[in-house]
Amino acid sequence: MLTAPRSSLFLIVAIDGGAAAGKSTTARALSARFHFLHIDTGSHYRALTAELLRLGVAASDPAAVERALTGLALGSEVEGRRAAITVNGRLVPDAELRAPAVNAAVSHFAAIPAVRAALLAYQRDQARIGRENGFAGLVMEGRDIGTVIFPSADFRFFLHADPEERARRRAAEGQQDSIAERDRLDSSRKTAPLVCPSGATDIDSTFLSLDEVVERVSAPIAARLAAA
Ligand code: CDP
Repeated sequence: MLTAPRSSLFLIVAIDGGAAAGKSTTARALSARFHFLHIDTGSHYRALTAELLRLGVAASDPAAVERALTGLALGSEVEGRRAAITVNGRLVPDAELRAPAVNAAVSHFAAIPAVRAALLAYQRDQARIGRENGFAGLVMEGRDIGTVIFPSADFRFFLHADPEERARRRAAEGQQDSIAERDRLDSSRKTAPLVCPSGATDIDSTFLSLDEVVERVSAPIAARLAAA
């Protein structure tokens, strides 16, 4: 029987978890180790939030949000091993994505079904961009990757850590961010809430070093690649 050629293997890795749970650092490490395209879906919600705030649209008015979304064209720019979102051709700078106003509003916008619907096909399409750009796979981090975006991903991980430890990590980054409040909103919303996907590998990073988390996540991927 014929087996698929090795070059056709394209692995999809989903990493979900609450704010400051270590998703980005882990995803970046996997991307470097295995040459995977890295997608931070939090930045997608942040970019839409920044743009909607600029347009003066409030999350308390979902009908206005839905109308404004029809005028926003989403694109992707691959820089190194990362694909960043563009909104109407504009790459939203990191300082804007992480501004206190965006931190405070993003979970409110992310709870609106029209916002999530606007990103669903866009996020799934990142696998095509990864393949076309010669990556060996895709590592996507967020809140609903293993449940909604790629429920059949090759690997699904859920990272969590004690709230105090996560608040400490975010403060060490010098950011003004109510992560407990965002987690509460993200976990309690009706559409695509933050939950550990059933069947995902659940990792508590409270007492683990970053290297230990990366090792736990990398080991099964390395084993799969070695067996391919
Ligand atoms: O970096 P941090 O973990 O604090 O947050 P983020 O990943 O940048 O995500 C910012 C916000 O976007 C989250 O608090 C969620 O409200 C929303 N989000 C979401 O709803 N679904 C995703 N897949 C990713 C982010």
